[in-house]
Amino acid sequence: MPVYQATATAPVNIAVIKYWGKRDTKLILPTNSSLSVTLDQDHLRSTTTSRADPSFTSDKLWLNGTPDEIKPEGRLYTCIKEMKRLRKELEDKDSSLPKLSSYNVHIASYNNFPTAAGLASSASGFAALVSSLALLYQLPATPSELSLIARQGSGSACRSLFGGFVAWEMGSSPNGSDSLAVQVAPESHWPDLHALICVVSSAKKGTSSTSGMQRTVATSPLLQHRINHVVPERMAAMSKAIQDKDFDAFALLTMADSNQFHAVALDTEPPIFYMNDVSRSIIALIVELNRVSVEAGQGYVAAYTYDAGPNAVIYVREKDVKRVFQLVLAYFPQPAGEFKDVLKVFGGDVPDVNVHAAIPEGFNKDVAAKWEVGAVKGFIHTKVGDGPRHLDASESLLNDEGLPK
Ligand code: DP6
Repeated sequence: MPVYQATATAPVNIAVIKYWGKRDTKLILPTNSSLSVTLDQDHLRSTTTSRADPSFTSDKLWLNGTPDEIKPEGRLYTCIKEMKRLRKELEDKDSSLPKLSSYNVHIASYNNFPTAAGLASSASGFAALVSSLALLYQLPATPSELSLIARQGSGSACRSLFGGFVAWEMGSSPNGSDSLAVQVAPESHWPDLHALICVVSSAKKGTSSTSGMQRTVATSPLLQHRINHVVPERMAAMSKAIQDKDFDAFALLTMADSNQFHAVALDTEPPIFYMNDVSRSIIALIVELNRVSVEAGQGYVAAYTYDAGPNAVIYVREKDVKRVFQLVLAYFPQPAGEFKDVLKVFGGDVPDVNVHAAIPEGFNKDVAAKWEVGAVKGFIHTKVGDGPRHLDASESLLNDEGLPK
């Protein structure tokens, strides 16, 4: 009896034009288009193995080794059902194909970073799930077609089907057939773009994106302004900034859109706060760093953006990573000897990373107070990366019995 199994990985993406609000909560159709940067899977990824077997008694899923319930009509259920439907279409056309669509599946998924840390684990998770099932079922589907299904798992997941720079076009059809992801530019277009993630908290967030955004839709007048008068222009301007590799335009739009997303969260009844005092201090540092650089005629250095949590993602060109790091270290000291891996940017190991702390000339030191060790708990230094990858059998997450290894 052959083993029908496939393993795929998918990346995290961090939006620069934010998705916030659904016009259809079941199909996950957004109230505005959005645009993101896919981050390198060498640092952040979800890996998923799917196996179909006639001996399996039900569909089962394990997340980081722990069984996860596949609730009837829930998001996981919908994604698995939709993938089986596409497989069935193939089988109906070609009777020689094994009837995998009639078998139950076992799925094991693993994130190499904390789940629900505000690091978009649901995005990479659903993209990896859909990618592994597409490989298992040998579907001829394009990434945009697969994005229609990943979208129904978690909206932002549709953008993780591509590498590089990705737009989720909101579409207009009530059935969602045109609400899909398209690639704006591949990762090779702007490989110089790096991301520095400052982990402020790895705890599970208070208000989930799903419930928070629907409260915003129901109560925020500012969201209506954003949807109708801000995002359409910004989507076009952001695509152009990326095509032109215009970092100044990219940075201004990214920060403005992060700010507006947090403004509509605050405009929600009752208000939602995702950023904390540490997040706001990081904003103050980036704003002042940019001011000094712009005044010196050297343009923008860095762009911050925050999702539904306090962690900062700072987009920066490779040439400037070091000075952004130096500045952040000056305000957020680290335990001696830690984070050697991400601090490769300084070249060579030192016993205490804090020796690299530095504040640029002309920088107003009073824009933020210096924090205690532990305020920023860690860094992830990564860059724009590729889309889902197919792995070979040796990297399977399931053992011979079809259970997590
Ligand atoms: C703030 O995709 O997690 O990260 O569709 O309900 O699963 P659901 O929400 P989700 O929301 C992400 C919101 C965001 C902005 C973004 O990624 O565009």
